Amino acid sequence: MPITAQDQTWILETDHTAYSFGLNAFGLLTHAYWGPRLLTPEDYPPPVMGMNWASFNNPPHLTPEEYPAYHEMKFIEPCLKVTFANGARDAALRFQSAHIKPGDGQTSLHISLRDRAQPFEVLLCYTLYDGHDLIGRTATLVNHGTEPILIERMWSAQWHLPVGEGYRFSHLTGRWSDEFHLRREPLQQGVKVIESRRLHTSHHHSPWFAIDRGSADEDQGEVWFGALAWSGSWKIAAEVTDFASTRVSAGLNDWDFAYRLMPGESFTTPEAYAGYTPDGFGAASRGLHDFIRDAVLPHRHTAHRVLFNSWEATLFDVDVASQSLYAETAASLGVELFVMDDGWFHGRDHDRAGLGDWWPDARKFPQGLTPLIERVNALGMDFGLWIEPEMVNPDSDLYRAHPDWVLHFPDRPRTEGRNQLILNLGRADVQTYLLDRLDALLRENNIAFIKWDMNRAVTEPGWPDYDGEPREIWVRYVEGLYRLWGTLRQRHPRVIWQSCSGGGGRADLGILRYADQIWVSDNTGPVARLGIQEGFSQVFPASVMEAWVTDMEPHSWFNPQPAGEYLPLSFRFHVSMCGALGIGANITHWGEAERDEARRWIAIYKELRPIIQEGDLYRLRSAQTGSGFSAVQYVSKDKAESVLFAFRTLIPDPANLPPLRLRGLDPQARYTVEGFDGARSGLAWMNTDLLMPLLNFDSTLRRIRRVSE
Ligand code: DGJ
Repeated sequence: MPITAQDQTWILETDHTAYSFGLNAFGLLTHAYWGPRLLTPEDYPPPVMGMNWASFNNPPHLTPEEYPAYHEMKFIEPCLKVTFANGARDAALRFQSAHIKPGDGQTSLHISLRDRAQPFEVLLCYTLYDGHDLIGRTATLVNHGTEPILIERMWSAQWHLPVGEGYRFSHLTGRWSDEFHLRREPLQQGVKVIESRRLHTSHHHSPWFAIDRGSADEDQGEVWFGALAWSGSWKIAAEVTDFASTRVSAGLNDWDFAYRLMPGESFTTPEAYAGYTPDGFGAASRGLHDFIRDAVLPHRHTAHRVLFNSWEATLFDVDVASQSLYAETAASLGVELFVMDDGWFHGRDHDRAGLGDWWPDARKFPQGLTPLIERVNALGMDFGLWIEPEMVNPDSDLYRAHPDWVLHFPDRPRTEGRNQLILNLGRADVQTYLLDRLDALLRENNIAFIKWDMNRAVTEPGWPDYDGEPREIWVRYVEGLYRLWGTLRQRHPRVIWQSCSGGGGRADLGILRYADQIWVSDNTGPVARLGIQEGFSQVFPASVMEAWVTDMEPHSWFNPQPAGEYLPLSFRFHVSMCGALGIGANITHWGEAERDEARRWIAIYKELRPIIQEGDLYRLRSAQTGSGFSAVQYVSKDKAESVLFAFRTLIPDPANLPPLRLRGLDPQARYTVEGFDGARSGLAWMNTDLLMPLLNFDSTLRRIRRVSE
């Protein structure tokens, strides 16, 4: 049993790690341990006791509670802040009961806490997933009383680090077209917050963290890490208290948030996951990758097909004839999935009109989408389509009919972003409209793949005719999104969905319950992309990371270079082969030599796909340090095969590149490495230097094969 209960203490053990908490002598539910799994239950320390410190700090302030509510003399970041009908604004949570629930592939522990005076209950749920060193946590508030309760903050979890100093916080930050920069910074007294207030997960921060003792690297060192499964506004707060206790909390953003919980109702937070490893940031990422592939994605362990996407080649200029031409070229290269992006629906010639009117534009597709889809299918490819369901252009039939369906404040201008407004997905009528339209689209057409986009952040998050608490919108919207997407997925289980929000604006573990893939960035410049992909890989596996070969200049597409100054096609392919390969270039402009080369890389990718999409990732050298030389390696789960990609961008100095050392091989087995003589043991390859003779803007792919056990 992975959960042991003894003397009002609970020990949660995964294969290699353990987490424990219990009731301390003051009766507070308190943290006890988070680290490597120990040998016996007696090995684990008891729950922590807090002491008084003068008259200014009493035990609740000094105690690392599992789920602190604002109460008494407690000034740390609490998980719960509520207001009761009688005006009381605190909560005195006391342990009530616990039970362990075995399940299929998972075991959970449920702890009930009750308030001393008010009839409400907080249920903490801890889930252990078989085979994964991770714990999932949610909290549920149940109103047993006869009056509403106003929830002003309700986070999913607070996690406590061992007592100590010198912790370092790693997180991902960026902006549109420049996402997923990894930052590491020391944690000192105070609160470090990363968040989204934008209604989508955002390009600016990701709901993920890693904390180490200041010296971990890819291969070694203790790392505590976590992620929140939520696709709306969220918050992660890492706090070092004035008494040097370090904790990190994750949950819904409490900014502008309130939720009125009526008598008899309950409210459950999104799930927050966290894990521990003694083996560095690389192991933390691999743990998340395995978990996402095994326990989160809708189509688990499905090989993702090489796709073509029309966006960068044609923008809005799509019709049957031109798309059929692209499809013919794509098929001749070995593409397996043809995706038509923006521009196909009613009135959509540019980004100023059409969103909301989800039927084929009659001028571009006079017989609907069927002739194009049949052509694509006849060429041996599946067909995919782009949609942006949450949005509406003021210039659309939908908006003209239902101007009240968008988020807005009364008597305020409606701020447009990319000429569009946001439909209020909290509304049942909006959900029904979208469900009917999108369901019809999927029923009437043989669509195997949908790219679901969202191209702006929120403004005026109002719902004027809502009769409840208007600040519930932050949750009601995302619940509506999940309901809509979930229903479509249930009705069309074969369809693979991709989450896109102007690139990587909706990348989180919540959306991965609906989407199998994520569009990482609108920046497809191959050099910029190396860094962006590396940041993305902190959390997500390569199978989720859709990566296109395009005609963008090296660093970004804001500043296209004259034709002929693109990086070599091999470099561009190698970058995109590190994820789920796609092509977004204008392939009809490619000459025969480029098409031949593309054909060759696509064929190689198909052979390597199981290793890349399903294997273990090792980041051998970072692309984000600006050193100009980076490398990643993928190793199959059985360690029989591996592939190394190395990239040199611009290094003015002609000196030799620093050596690489392989990782993840079986030390006892013998391997060959393409380009190097002889078979050597895995131990030898992992402990001797490999020199890569690369020129500027050059790259290499080396296959590694086990030749004997
Ligand atoms: C933003 C996406 O990230 C692009 O790939 C493309 O789909 C455009 N939207 C279409 O408007």
